[in-house]
Amino acid sequence: MDCMVIQGGRRLAGEVRISGAKNTALPILASTLLSKGTCALLNMPDVRDVLTMSKVLTHLGAGIEVHGDRYTVTLAGVASCQAPYELVKTMRASVLVLGPLLARWGEAIVALPGGCAIGARPINLHLAALEKMGAEIHIEHGNVHACIRGRLKGARIYFDVPTVTGTENVMMAACLAEGTTVLENAAREPEVSDLASFLIKRGARVSGVGTDVITIDGVPELHGADHEIVPDRVETGTYLIAGAITGGEVRVVRCRPDHCDALLAKLQEAGVALKVEKEAIQVRANGQPRAVDVKTLPYPGFPTDMQAQMMALMALARGSSVITETVFESRFLHVLELQRMGADIRIEGNHAVVTGVGRLSGAPVMASDLRASACLILAGLAAEGETRVSRVYHLDRGYERLDAKLTGLGAQVRREAERV
Ligand code: EPU
Repeated sequence: MDCMVIQGGRRLAGEVRISGAKNTALPILASTLLSKGTCALLNMPDVRDVLTMSKVLTHLGAGIEVHGDRYTVTLAGVASCQAPYELVKTMRASVLVLGPLLARWGEAIVALPGGCAIGARPINLHLAALEKMGAEIHIEHGNVHACIRGRLKGARIYFDVPTVTGTENVMMAACLAEGTTVLENAAREPEVSDLASFLIKRGARVSGVGTDVITIDGVPELHGADHEIVPDRVETGTYLIAGAITGGEVRVVRCRPDHCDALLAKLQEAGVALKVEKEAIQVRANGQPRAVDVKTLPYPGFPTDMQAQMMALMALARGSSVITETVFESRFLHVLELQRMGADIRIEGNHAVVTGVGRLSGAPVMASDLRASACLILAGLAAEGETRVSRVYHLDRGYERLDAKLTGLGAQVRREAERV
């Protein structure tokens, strides 16, 4: 197991290029199960979750060739309808194969993802929707077993909460259903929209993309297509905060500023100087940031995937901020670690009251999930002395070459095998 060792206190400067979005690459890969043929996917991020999804697909029968950030996925038929527990337990997003397998191949057996550090994360809304479309679903031996005779039937589905992977799973399944499916209170995340545009290129009939009502007119079959994955908005935000928290000046390129509106508004409110171009954002720290309140919400609200990183910035702000997490019930595990670095944070239910301190001090800390790891790295970049972040395998799930990209900006970061 590796850890990341950071010598804090260096001002970051320079340019960093953003990779393709992990949370788009995953459903897009899963969706290749919806048709025979070949799909060429460009700008695929080199992160472990994408590798895991590739293993799931290969197990199911897909052929995958990788050349740099280009994946060529060919499906001649499926070898199995079962996504094994060994892979699903390492990545909840494996559940995204459920809709495509069921809709195209009539059966799907997917291990039920277990607990998760950031919340319960059930998949009841995915299952209820597929059942409403005519699937027979049983949970046995830790697996979800779904099957359908003939085609799924279009249905009107209302999601109690706008679930991202739930919307994606059901949207993919509905592409091949008989009749029209209407998804109400659907997720509006850019990742959902990018998946929809890929499906449309493949012959799907999807409208209302980017709104909370998505309508899908089912077609008998889809075909292959090429697609370039949208840039990762969470990686973008993480580097913007890296610039701001180190008093630096960083230009983030090959990104989609229009997908980062809520974060940009909050950074501006905190007094961080931003220059926004079409596909780049320049960030310049403007003295100590001001404390601002933040509440996570489904898109276009402030992303829960940026909450931990924003908290690292607020830990060094002037004044007190209240950070409210409304999407996941226990996504504050980074707080105890930030406290070890000298942060002044009090948790009250789903609120974290963060009182900015003048300095953080480097310490050994432990990452609990992907975005918590990013938060601790950011805190380490700004802290005095050495910070050692252990369990960085969480980081490798979703950030491509984070240490190399930070080093390119002047950070002193190195990866080491963890001492036991
Ligand atoms: N929920 C239910 N029932 C369901 C589905 C969701 O109650 O059937 C609840 C969840 O427990 C949660 C809320 O709905 O409280 C929203 O969860 P959602 O389903 O939207 O999350 P997800 O689809 O499992 C995706 C991202 C997460 C990101 C969330 C929220 C992927 C692969 N994962 O998860 O990304 O935090 O949406 O935006 O797209 C990450 O990248 O670090 C990450 C955790």
